[in-house]
Amino acid sequence: MVPVICVDGPSGSGKGTLAQRLASHLGFHLLDSGALYRIVGFAALDQGVAWDDEASVTQIARDLDVSFVTTDLGVRVIYCGRDVTESVRSVRGGEGASAVAAIPTVREALLARQRELAVAPGLIADGRDMGTVVFPDAPVKIFLEASAMARAQRRQSQLQLQGEDVRLPRLLEAIEARDTKDRTRSVSPLVPAEDAVIVDSTDLTADAVFERVLSHAVAKGIVHLVD
Ligand code: C5P
Repeated sequence: MVPVICVDGPSGSGKGTLAQRLASHLGFHLLDSGALYRIVGFAALDQGVAWDDEASVTQIARDLDVSFVTTDLGVRVIYCGRDVTESVRSVRGGEGASAVAAIPTVREALLARQRELAVAPGLIADGRDMGTVVFPDAPVKIFLEASAMARAQRRQSQLQLQGEDVRLPRLLEAIEARDTKDRTRSVSPLVPAEDAVIVDSTDLTADAVFERVLSHAVAKGIVHLVD
């Protein structure tokens, strides 16, 4: 069986950093499932389709022409031959993702595309429902938490690095609103799988989180120690 490590949790919990680090350390493939929902939201905007037009958005998800290309600038998102990385990662891109992700038929349309990525030597799957829905049999499931304030502060530092100065109360409000939406939706809500290990990263460095998760994966016997 191909080893899959699921990394689920809310935005800003450090999932993306952890997943990328695990993938490059172990030489595994990486699934950034949030990017798929972001691209569906982007493609809808691009085609003038409203995010709540369920039938049209589902069709967009089924036909999605997207690829992820690793360059010196990191992973770039290519949609219909166009590099749309900045647009899909923007705050608006996150809103679009959250809106289309609440449509059950959109989630269904993206299922096979996500499962196809579980190929040798292994996969790190980053998202909200990796351990509960997409890869329920995965041997290692991590649910990464962090307080809303810690997540807002991390997001603020990230934005400052990009030259954007967004005030903390506004970020905190946006994070809390998105959390509520993701945790309470009826389809694939953001909840830990029963067999997930919950890691609270509020007071941990990225290095400490990485070491903890790697030792857990080693203890589970699905990865050998890689120097
Ligand atoms: O992880 P990221 O912030 O890119 O995800 C954007 C949005 O996509 C989330 O807020 C969530 O609504 C949705 N999403 C999801 N299921 C996933 C990944 C992301 O519903 N597996």
